[in-house]
Amino acid sequence: MAKIQLGIAGASGYGGQELLRLAVRHDDIEIAVAMSSAGNNETQELPALKNLWNGRIEPFSIEKLIAKSEVVFLGLPDGISAELAPKLVKNERKVFDLSGAFRLRDKELRKQWYPKSPSLPAITTYGLPEWNREDLSTANLVACAGCYPTAAILALKPLVKAGLLVDKTDIYIDAKSGVSGAGKKPSERTHFSEVHGSIAAYGIFSHRHAAEIEQELQRPVTFVPHLVPLDRGILETIYTRVKPGTTDDTIREALDVYQKSPFVRLTGNTPPEIKHVVHTNFCDIGWILDDTRLVLVACIDNLVKGAAGQALQSFNIAHDLEESKGLL
Ligand SMILES: NC(=O)c1ccc[n+]([C@@H]2O[C@H](COP(=O)([O-])OP(=O)(O)OC[C@H]3O[C@@H](n4cnc5c(N)ncnc54)[C@H](OP(=O)(O)O)[C@@H]3O)[C@@H](O)[C@H]2O)c1
Repeated sequence: MAKIQLGIAGASGYGGQELLRLAVRHDDIEIAVAMSSAGNNETQELPALKNLWNGRIEPFSIEKLIAKSEVVFLGLPDGISAELAPKLVKNERKVFDLSGAFRLRDKELRKQWYPKSPSLPAITTYGLPEWNREDLSTANLVACAGCYPTAAILALKPLVKAGLLVDKTDIYIDAKSGVSGAGKKPSERTHFSEVHGSIAAYGIFSHRHAAEIEQELQRPVTFVPHLVPLDRGILETIYTRVKPGTTDDTIREALDVYQKSPFVRLTGNTPPEIKHVVHTNFCDIGWILDDTRLVLVACIDNLVKGAAGQALQSFNIAHDLEESKGLL
């Protein structure tokens, strides 16, 4: 089979570099072109990929991206994706977008959180493979699920679908992320001396990932993200109430929906830890039930299952390849 010609825009970013690292090892992919921003006129080598990939990262050009690639991965700021993805789709390129530009289906919510994406190109699909496998092969644009939402939705959706949560009960998601979640450009917030030795909550009632989680669960949530002094990894501790009579076995049966999902691992009553998922595409989920009080803990690597790995997993399914190809 001829290799699929892949273009990566944003290849010099954290998500893009992770995509390159995964894609160079994938038997069915040839990296046709990898690009950084338009402002940078020099080509760049990626020291981390020396002897693995002979290519260089080139300055951005939409014409070249279209000419060289069959499939395009976008690891760009959402406003730039919002502008480029429709052009790529129009030119019949299949697009996997890591940004949030096209994740929200509700127009008003998109206007609030992603104002540069007034409409969704046909056919756009939300890219959380465990729940959207069937839609991936027909989509022209896959809006890969966000990092925080991936862990929260994978943990909660089976319980919501099984009707185990008390109606209208609160769902509290206490989320902690390593600093690479903010991208490679340092800011006062993410500078080493600000982050090291500290933990800070941010975006309380104002983080756009809450809207994405609520869209996929069809339930309101209280989502509080924290920045922690790690380079990568997300851990979410989720507090809610289940209906009386729900047992540990009932919870496990609901989560067994992932039996055939190669990247969801259930840790039972042992809470999972970030160190077991970093540099992998796994989402580990554990839970503890006390009468009707339920605590779920879920963790992922934000750059793999929360970004590049998730995109590659969706790519595999969309191209009828083994879901885990290049990811284990
Ligand atoms: N980081 C995460 O954990 C994570 C997880 C899930 C989703 N995401 C999403 O994935 C996207 C990329 O995130 P990231 O963390 O990889 O960001 P990043 O490290 O800041 O990288 C951004 C990339 O976009 C390129 N770029 C910026 N402006 C551009 C322009 N006008 N034209 C062409 N290229 C441009 C940059 O090139 P230069 O190097 O030349 O500046 C760089 O390659 C974002 O939308 C983010 O929300 C990130």
